[in-house]
Amino acid sequence: MQLIRAKDYDEMCAKAAEHVIRTIKEKKAPVLGLATGKTPTGVYRKLVMDHWQNRTSYRHVTTFNLDEYVGLGSDDPTSFHYYMRENFFDHVDIPEQQIHIPNGIASNLEQECLQYECQIEEKGGIDLQILGIGVNGHIGFNEPGTPFYSQTHIVKLSESTREANQSFFNSLEQVPKYAITMGLSTIMKSREIVLLVSGKRKAPILQQLLSSEVVCEDLPATILKRHPHVTIITDQDAYSS
Ligand code: F6R
Repeated sequence: MQLIRAKDYDEMCAKAAEHVIRTIKEKKAPVLGLATGKTPTGVYRKLVMDHWQNRTSYRHVTTFNLDEYVGLGSDDPTSFHYYMRENFFDHVDIPEQQIHIPNGIASNLEQECLQYECQIEEKGGIDLQILGIGVNGHIGFNEPGTPFYSQTHIVKLSESTREANQSFFNSLEQVPKYAITMGLSTIMKSREIVLLVSGKRKAPILQQLLSSEVVCEDLPATILKRHPHVTIITDQDAYSS
């Protein structure tokens, strides 16, 4: 794992955006794996700015988001669909049919998971996966204890994850209890992974991840130690606290 220590959030986002832009310029039909949450919003801002200033095009790009809440439709302002449109997709030239986000209101959620996994395979897998990390070490919504062999599946969110995401909702009760998430094995099949870690709140888990010599399901992000091409980009707050 390569570690890049950015001096602040802005520099962390700029470095992550560079990875994305390089990938979409190098590949003929790049496939991006994308994350939501507080951490990557600045990366999307940089990508949108670059799109307008440098005309970087997304016409040839396919995307797969990591996860979506069960029970929230794409028009719900608290859904990850909505987040992605608002923060990124509405501001670049990516064709709608090349955007993939699990459908949290699918009538058959198990089938939705299987289909999502197949769609990723059909596109030849993910070239670059952007990840954030939960305070409990989750990546995607793969909570501690999730099997390393997991593929896209339905997960019961831990209370700490629901609390961490409460700020996107009016109250904790409104935060869904379940989500669809790419599994750990789905994430590990990506050819390159960039993990973003920002803010003092994430300092303990980053410390634990970097110092841990064991790779174990209790700390899902440790699986990344087995991946040949992972870059962790952290800001000073997450690194030095
Ligand atoms: C989001 C996702 C989650 C978040 C993580 C950190 O699509 O899969 O793993 O990356 O919960 O969230 P923030 O960035 O809000 O601290």
